[in-house]
Amino acid sequence: MYITLKEIMKKADKLNMTVGAFNMHNLEMLPGMIRSAKEVGAPIIIQTSIDTAKYIGYDVIVAVCKQLAENEIVDVTLHLDHAKDLEAIKDAIDAGYSSIMYDGSSLPFKENIAKTRAVVEYAHARGVSVEGELGTIGGTEEGVSVAEEDKQYTKPEDALRFVQETGVDALAVGIGTNHGQFKSKTNVNIPLLKKIHETVDIPLVLHGGTGVKESDYPELINNGIRKFNVGTELLVNWTETAKKYFVETPVNKSLRHNIIPCNDRVNEIIKHKCHLFMNLDSPLK
Ligand code: 13P
Repeated sequence: MYITLKEIMKKADKLNMTVGAFNMHNLEMLPGMIRSAKEVGAPIIIQTSIDTAKYIGYDVIVAVCKQLAENEIVDVTLHLDHAKDLEAIKDAIDAGYSSIMYDGSSLPFKENIAKTRAVVEYAHARGVSVEGELGTIGGTEEGVSVAEEDKQYTKPEDALRFVQETGVDALAVGIGTNHGQFKSKTNVNIPLLKKIHETVDIPLVLHGGTGVKESDYPELINNGIRKFNVGTELLVNWTETAKKYFVETPVNKSLRHNIIPCNDRVNEIIKHKCHLFMNLDSPLK
């Protein structure tokens, strides 16, 4: 089914698992991403940057996600990642995205609350979920850049106030992860996550999943991470595979010979992650 972030996370919470939120960069990747989740019996969140949505077309991405969710009988949420631009948020909602992130994390605390609350009112009136962010995630990704010295960890008491005053459906937290970290792994601050999870009764979101050790997944999930973002790992693997195949394949052979291996690589990663995200060794809540 094509469902909202709130709905998909509610199901995940009942099963004490997390949902992989995977960034797509081109339309070629998309069907395989959803079918891979289906293959391992997991739900999936597809997320796009505003630039990717504009490049492909918001409505085209919505149509493909809805169609595949129905054909494959798998839970799919389509989410706009790191939006600061209200016009883009409106475009995504009008086109049928079922979830959006308003990223006010670089704003002063009260301004972040006020702007996030306005977005929540707009989105909820249209049946769309909202993820907010408090604290910052380091590193760089499309349109988002936070220097190491500007990185801020989320304070549990601020998180409580933010959640109460904005009405967000999910909260992205700063617990030491970085966007785009694909050559090393980070040390996630699990004690801080535990405190946040004890303080706020809301699904939590982890950004910068590429740089997170798989051995940390169970503790992250057991402490309330219900949306787990992974982008760079897919991008790097798709691109590395493309570089190899585009060089080796004769120019007059169908593009399929180049693109299918790239998609296959990404699909293997998604299946592996989705399996871990189901947290199968943990007891049910
Ligand atoms: P990575 O690209 O580091 O995996 O992070 C993805 C993300 O958090 C998208 O918002």
